Amino acid sequence: MKAVTLIKNGDAAKAFEVREIAKPTPASDEVLIKVSAFGLNFADVMARNGMYKEAPPLPCVLGYDVAGMVEATGSSVTNVQPGQRVTALTRFGGYAEYAITKSTAVTAIPASVDDATATALTTQYITAYYAAAEAVNLFKGDKVLVHSGAGGVGTALIQYAKHKGCEIFSTAGSDEKLKQLALLGVQHCINYRTEDFENKIKTLTNGKGVDVIYDAVGGVSVKKGFRSLAAGGRLICYGASDMSDKNIFGKIGSALGFGFYHPVMLMMPSKAIIGVNMLKIADDKPQVIQRCLEAVIKLYEEGVFKPNIGKVFPVSEIAAAHEYLEKRKSMGKIVIKW
Ligand SMILES: NC(=O)c1ccc[n+]([C@@H]2O[C@H](COP(=O)([O-])OP(=O)(O)OC[C@H]3O[C@@H](n4cnc5c(N)ncnc54)[C@H](OP(=O)(O)O)[C@@H]3O)[C@@H](O)[C@H]2O)c1
Repeated sequence: MKAVTLIKNGDAAKAFEVREIAKPTPASDEVLIKVSAFGLNFADVMARNGMYKEAPPLPCVLGYDVAGMVEATGSSVTNVQPGQRVTALTRFGGYAEYAITKSTAVTAIPASVDDATATALTTQYITAYYAAAEAVNLFKGDKVLVHSGAGGVGTALIQYAKHKGCEIFSTAGSDEKLKQLALLGVQHCINYRTEDFENKIKTLTNGKGVDVIYDAVGGVSVKKGFRSLAAGGRLICYGASDMSDKNIFGKIGSALGFGFYHPVMLMMPSKAIIGVNMLKIADDKPQVIQRCLEAVIKLYEEGVFKPNIGKVFPVSEIAAAHEYLEKRKSMGKIVIKW
């Protein structure tokens, strides 16, 4: 089978090669999927740049989410059958004609869901759902700040917070993205390139701060976010895109920028910092992934989750797709079709 193989870290144009590799065989609890489309995630950009420690050694096949048809199942799999259309999370290996994954990471999709939407509903929506419905509770009227709101996970977080009746604040890096935030129903759209989000939050909340912050930027954004939390506030850290385009000194600066927190500093103002890593959850608690996947599909069917498909690229343009995501041009989900 063909697989888009990462052969070299760095420049997207030189990083990938389509290679012939062996088609995998499912173990008893696994499902083999004939892939029609796979999704890009920002973690793929980090992995391509050699900054994702969980990524397999080179040469390797990246890819966290696929849509397609079940080709074969292991002996103990009961939730899906060969011939069924599915969407699935893959622990790498998604950039291929066939992908293999645990049955807990696969769910059947209605015929009405197109491939691009199906890939969007996995990694990014599951991360958002876990971060918004499992890691914390959101209540009506909560003030919620979503950074990188026009992106894949950001869009999903905003849709969920809106569904819960929250007052939403969101940052993005261009006026075009701010327009998209407004379309999503964000009440307070902040262009972080022209306005300091910490000052803006202070003004908009009369100095009180917000209840929940979603931050995948990392670095000093976390420190500023911590200061922007109201009493009882929770800061969910789930990424460090700030580090992606920095040299070693920049990375050290970014790492220090997060700040250092003693439990007393959390207890006295009654604030919490919560880390989310879905790969860790998938490894240790596959049942949580299955529960989130089912909940995401239900919320999609109810019209709460509406993925925004930013762009669909043919597989031959994988490098261009990576650059598009890396250079912050994308809004919503980037999908690759075989
Ligand atoms: N912890 C987990 O389990 C988990 C799971 C999925 C995703 N994530 C993280 O969630 C974040 C969003 O992922 P996604 O796939 O939905 O990507 P995305 O948000 O669609 O795209 C990345 C966006 O991040 C913003 N950004 C901020 N600083 C950046 C930088 N230095 N370089 C490039 N982009 C930067 C840009 O938006 P602006 O132009 O608005 O700044 C960019 O468009 C990523 O950090 C990813 O690693 C974590």
